[in-house]
Parts: sequence; C-alpha cells; structure tokens
Amino acid sequence: AEIEKGNYRHFMQKEIFEQPTVVAQTLRSYLRPVEQQVALPQIDFDISAIDRVTIVACGTSYYAGLVAKYWFERFARVPVDIDYASEFRYRDPVLQPGGLALFISQSGETADTLAALRHCKANGQTIAVVVNVPTSSMAREADLLLPTHAGPEIGVASTKAFTCQLAVLAALAAHFAVKKGQMSREEEAAIVHHLMEVPASLNEALSHDAEIAAMAHLIAPARDVLYLGRGPDYPLALEGALKLKEISYIHAEGYASGEMKHGPIALIDEAVPVIVLAPSGPLFEKTVSNMEEVRARGGKIVLISDAEGLAEAGEGCMATIEMPKVHPLIAPLVYAVPVQLLAYHTACVKGTDVDQPRNLAKSVTVE
Ligand code: G6P
Repeated sequence: AEIEKGNYRHFMQKEIFEQPTVVAQTLRSYLRPVEQQVALPQIDFDISAIDRVTIVACGTSYYAGLVAKYWFERFARVPVDIDYASEFRYRDPVLQPGGLALFISQSGETADTLAALRHCKANGQTIAVVVNVPTSSMAREADLLLPTHAGPEIGVASTKAFTCQLAVLAALAAHFAVKKGQMSREEEAAIVHHLMEVPASLNEALSHDAEIAAMAHLIAPARDVLYLGRGPDYPLALEGALKLKEISYIHAEGYASGEMKHGPIALIDEAVPVIVLAPSGPLFEKTVSNMEEVRARGGKIVLISDAEGLAEAGEGCMATIEMPKVHPLIAPLVYAVPVQLLAYHTACVKGTDVDQPRNLAKSVTVE
C-alpha cells in the first residue's frame, strides 16, 4: 500500500512524530516488562564467550553504533571497536576468531556496510545485524537478526529508524551484560524499567514542537552551527549536526564538549549558535564549564537539558529546550527528538526540500 503523509507536511515530520509508537513497538520484541528482563531472539552462539565487538555502519546508523559502544562497554565491559564501513573495509582490520561483528543499517543494502559484513563473515566473525528492512541483503546474511520495527522510512534523513536502532542496541548491550555476569537481576530490571519509560519521554519531548519551530528562526540565519555533547550524548551532537547539514544546508559540526577547546573554540562568536546537549547527571558540571568558555567569547547557546540542568545553567542562554528527566544512559534516545525537530524546522524556515535533500540518497547502494 502506498504510504501517505496524512496531516503532516513532510514524511520526515510524520516519522519524527511516529517515534513513541515505533520505539514502543520495537521495545516490545526485546523486553519482557512483567519479568523485567531483556528478551532477545533465539541466539545459537555463546554470548559469554564473546570478548570483542566490532561495530560497522554508515551515516546516522553509525552514530547509533557510537552510542552503543558506550552501552556495551559500560554495561557488559566488552571492548568495542567501531568504524565507518567505508574505512573498515580498506584498513585491513584485525579480527580475532570468536568476535562478534555488529552491522547497523536502516535499509540493509548500503554497499559499504554489506561489503564489510561479508569481509567479517569470511574472517570468522559471528554476524549480528540491526536492520529495518527484514527482507534486505544484510538481514539474509545475518547469524543473528535483530529487526527494528520502525516501519518504512521515506524521508531521506533518518529519524525513527535511528531511535529504534538505539532501542534494540540498548537491549542487546544489557543482554550481553547479563550473559557475561556484569549485570545483576536488579540492574537488569532497572534498565528494562527505564527503557519502558522511553515512549512516554519521547511524547514529552515532542510536546516542545511549537517552541522548537519558533527557535528555528534563530538558527536559520546562521552560516555555521556547533553541537556539543559528552559521553553517550556526544554521538547525538554528531547526529544533530548531520541532520542540520543534510536538510537545511547550514554547515554544522558536532564535537565532544571537552574537545571544543582544542579547535572549534576559535570559531565561536555571536554568529555561531552552539547547541548543547546535556542531561543533568555525573557529566553535567563539566559541560557547564564548557558553556562558560563559549559564553566568554560571546557565543549564543541553545541548552537542551532537563529541569534540573536548566535551573542550574539555563540562565544567559539564547534559548533552552526542556527534556524530561531520564536516566543519563538512556538520554540519547530522548534527546534525538529535539535535534531532529530543530533541523526539521530550520529546513522549513529555509524552504528546502526536506524529504528529498539535494545530492543525497535514501540508500547508498554504490560505493
Ligand atoms: C544514507 C542516508 C542516511 C543513512 C545512511 C546509512 O546516507 O541518507 O540517512 O543514515 O545512508 O544508511 P543505512 O540504510 O545503511 O542505515
């Protein structure tokens, strides 16, 4: 059946708003809420024997992988190597027997990712695939198929596939942690509980749509925008910058907050908006110091944080967006919404072709 936009102006907008539903749908097949356990599909290899994970992907899917690296290392204490598929393929990576290679893809057809998958398979790796198209090449070649249930994604800039990938990856990392004896029953129950709350938090994040649409008028005139984040929100800064570039054609850069002083700080002045992604939590104070460095140079900050974070550091910002309070490790799932909406509305202000941005393809099946 043909997919319609319904009451939405663009597919991208519709897909952003579908996230509470499709993330809930995806989580349903990876969590047992009553037992408070993670439940993965039948796995016919011994997870506890896996001592190394290699993640390979492109574009937005790569950023989902970068978040997953934090989760695998934090929850399961498994070392993770991650690379862009186009780099991985040609750098002659060291693949020890017994490793798990994890591929993340919306389409399951991206040429570089598929070639990397085949390379890993030929080199004795167990192949796990997080993919949105269950009939795709990657899905067929997987030893462990982990589908996202985002439904067809039409907008070229990925949104709902990304948050569904994160949902699957969080469950997978927790499952690894349990199998490797790194996560107690209580900790598993807590993670399941936090993940079950994500759809409601996504709804709450979406309720700021009108505010973000108004804010887009502050971003649209900029020539450059800087996104900052730390820890698991650092990949979100990269994703925010990617989304803005893709659809509004404004140059944007994502940076690890603490790394800003090693370069991008030279660019900061009143013309460069700085979008800071910083849920309150153990890393918040560090980011507040980075914000002060920006402010001291006349930089204009948009702070995306929860009530606690905004109370502490919201004053003096050009704008703020309040997120629900979520567990710091789960924050990337929820903070994806404001970065998507900010890019979307900025593109609308600029009048670009949101669903079919110039020079980009939904699925890159050539090298
Ligand atoms: C293209 C799309 C992106 C996507 C990337 C990876 O560049 O425009 O939105 O993130 O490919 O695609 P995949 O289907 O492998 O996730």
